[in-house]
Amino acid sequence: MAFSSSTTPTVAYFSCFNTFNEISSPLFKPPKLPLFWPWEKVKMGPLSASPMGFGTWAWGNQFLWGYQESMDSQLQQTFNLAVENGINLFDTADSYGTGRLNGKSEKLLGKFISEIPGQKQVQNNIVIATKFAAYPWRLTPGQFVNACRASLARLQIEQIGIGQLHWSTANYAPPQELALWNGLVAMYEKGLVRAVGVSNYGPNQLVKIHDYLTARGVPLCSAQVQFSLLSMGENQLEIKNICDSLGIRLISYSPLGLGMLTGKYTPSKLPRGPRALLFRQILPGLKPLLRSLKEIAERRGKTIPQVAINWCICKGTIPIPGVKYVKQVEENLGALGWRLSSDELLELEYAALESPQRMIQNIFQTR
Ligand SMILES: NC(=O)c1ccc[n+]([C@@H]2O[C@H](COP(=O)([O-])OP(=O)(O)OC[C@H]3O[C@@H](n4cnc5c(N)ncnc54)[C@H](OP(=O)(O)O)[C@@H]3O)[C@@H](O)[C@H]2O)c1
Repeated sequence: MAFSSSTTPTVAYFSCFNTFNEISSPLFKPPKLPLFWPWEKVKMGPLSASPMGFGTWAWGNQFLWGYQESMDSQLQQTFNLAVENGINLFDTADSYGTGRLNGKSEKLLGKFISEIPGQKQVQNNIVIATKFAAYPWRLTPGQFVNACRASLARLQIEQIGIGQLHWSTANYAPPQELALWNGLVAMYEKGLVRAVGVSNYGPNQLVKIHDYLTARGVPLCSAQVQFSLLSMGENQLEIKNICDSLGIRLISYSPLGLGMLTGKYTPSKLPRGPRALLFRQILPGLKPLLRSLKEIAERRGKTIPQVAINWCICKGTIPIPGVKYVKQVEENLGALGWRLSSDELLELEYAALESPQRMIQNIFQTR
């Protein structure tokens, strides 16, 4: 009895975390260990985020991801499970959701946050990183402020964690670029976002926007790019170095190569929809990488997606794998709480270099 009362605070403190260290004895129930300790949270400007977040592009996207409204309760379960396990970073965008479902990802997140079972503190701790599309008609700070207010309404929150520019217009409409930057400044100055970030910005544009925002007194806390064992070219490495030198966090999107780094797809077992076209080109060349992922996973008692995500963490980035099912959240949570060795990282990177086809890059990705 004395034992159980002395452990109660620990159990209560960590009760929101899953356990990986199960010692099965009917008499001894050890306290559940967290997937990461409070001091392993990542500082992003004024925010404190879990070392991995989850992406919600699929939530509302019928075209690429086959979303249907009947999936909503299962998506809510994935969200709740992530939150119960200490995940507080969720990536979304005001353009996520196809056709009439535009904005659906933000709406679902808003609903799920508001319905987190009875814990105001957990709700307040959630960091929503949403992205504002650089639509051609968004040309003034006021238009970005309106876009931000529309996202806040869908998300049912008062302040967004990170307000990000979804892409730069430097490649095709350079004069609009300054309007985007001033849009971020306006949102920040009005207190609608706690911090700002960018997405699909290359090394040159990243330095430019960083210097501009710094001069305007706005801290740039994050940059997200496609970053994975399938997408680790010179651009990514250069961006990472710049982020490190400027105190910006790199968020790695598509860390599972849209699903190709999970091991469940093969050239003869392709996903439904447009992803199949891409996978058909790339998967045949991925044999060395998938073999290496599998070998390391087996040696470690982990799974292929866990190893692929852990690689992103070991490279000093915050991965945001996309999830649709409870079992995907469960599995991806297992990417936390351990680290690949430096030899394993090299083994994976050599195997990735053996793959003849690189992942296609976002058309808006700049230099
Ligand atoms: N800034 C940008 O321009 C940009 C671009 C792309 C993505 N993003 C963000 O990054 C997030 C993640 O990227 P992503 O969704 O493109 O790709 P991803 O994370 O590389 O792959 C996600 C997909 O892999 C499959 N998957 C996930 N976990 C799995 C597991 N444990 N086992 C088996 N399959 C699993 C699921 O699809 P299936 O089950 O259908 O295979 C899932 O939708 C997005 O949701 C979005 O928030 C941002």
